[in-house]
Amino acid sequence: MKLLSVVAARPNFMKIAPLTAAISRHNVANPDRFIEHILVHTGQHYDIRMSESFFKDLNIPEPDINLEIGSGTHAEQVGLTMIAFEKVLKEHKPDWVIVVGDVNATLACSVTAKKEKINLCHIEAGLRSGDLSMPEEINRLVTDRLSDLLLTPDRISGDNLRKEGVPEDKIRFVGNIMIDTLEANRDKASAIEIRALLEANLLIQNQKLNGFDAKKSYALMTLHRPSNVDDREVLVPLLKFLTTDVASKMTLLWPIHPRAVKMLKEFDLWEMATKHPNVILLEPLRYHDMLRLNMDAGIMLTDSGGLQEECCILGTPCLTLRWNTERPVTLREHGGASVLVGNNVDRIRTEFNHTLASQALPSRPELWDGHTAERIVELFGSEFYK
Ligand code: UD1
Repeated sequence: MKLLSVVAARPNFMKIAPLTAAISRHNVANPDRFIEHILVHTGQHYDIRMSESFFKDLNIPEPDINLEIGSGTHAEQVGLTMIAFEKVLKEHKPDWVIVVGDVNATLACSVTAKKEKINLCHIEAGLRSGDLSMPEEINRLVTDRLSDLLLTPDRISGDNLRKEGVPEDKIRFVGNIMIDTLEANRDKASAIEIRALLEANLLIQNQKLNGFDAKKSYALMTLHRPSNVDDREVLVPLLKFLTTDVASKMTLLWPIHPRAVKMLKEFDLWEMATKHPNVILLEPLRYHDMLRLNMDAGIMLTDSGGLQEECCILGTPCLTLRWNTERPVTLREHGGASVLVGNNVDRIRTEFNHTLASQALPSRPELWDGHTAERIVELFGSEFYK
């Protein structure tokens, strides 16, 4: 039995780490049902901080193959990935291709696998925002339409697939694999000292941390969606809100995505973002450092789906800077910690003040229990074994 799985960008790495570990454990326990596993990195994210550090910190084995696709337009990333991935499939002929999440490589490798008549499995199937202006939604729709095995993180996702006519025998509810990684790394993250973490990751090398007190509540923010950072009309009021309303109440820690850095500079907003003493810009953080900051944050502001999920488990109140979400299970109305605030500053301000005055509690959606990868490998080791 030969599985070939694909990683490409930062949010993929925490989904593949538990899978590779569970396959290794399966092979030790079941040598008669050995699963060969080939790991392909498309190279969409390539920096040490966006990629390599995750392999090291999460004990992911070196990828067997790196396609080195790098940055580009969406069409360039998808096209180049398809050309390179087709060669890999012709050479290695896996029984299954496994893709995760919703990045450009998820789409590119799904299409290529199906055209090579290879079975396709999608981990994190069935998520729907209904917003086709997001590249990720297009990637999800195409990938799920082509998949032979659709592994869902929650019951809402399964229902989405049924509504789209996906046959019942292709859908399996396995839980959220990213939470496997969170649970496996909680203790290590807890041991990190926050001030030392900040000092080691300052984006502006000489920024003083005089105003920062780890005993006081701080806000944590990430921002990278094109809808938030690529549009000056959106970014300017957002940045004003951050440097006035938020920074006057508490320290804002902002590990900043390369896309956001690029756009702030392009729009001449770099000085505004970097000159406020209570706004601390950080390099993209390693997995354990981000988890550590999330554990103690008074409030999260983010447009990342993964952080929305982690806030739910940790009980960090989360303002999701989007108008919709493909992860409704993390929202307050479903018992989670997150509320959708879009990118209208008046709405964000109201929810920010309301959230600071209230308390969120950790909540654990069904099967977000740290054992999702085991359930997946069990499927390949028995029902789908070849
Ligand atoms: C991608 C995913 C998104 C995911 C996000 C997490 C798609 C469509 N989007 O968006 O779903 O949430 O990753 O980070 O696949 N860059 C670097 N170093 C790197 C990688 C990128 O500097 O290691 C720069 C690129 O040059 C580019 C920008 O970051 O200018 C954006 O990278 P890109 O891969 O196009 O998309 P993301 O916005 O990261």
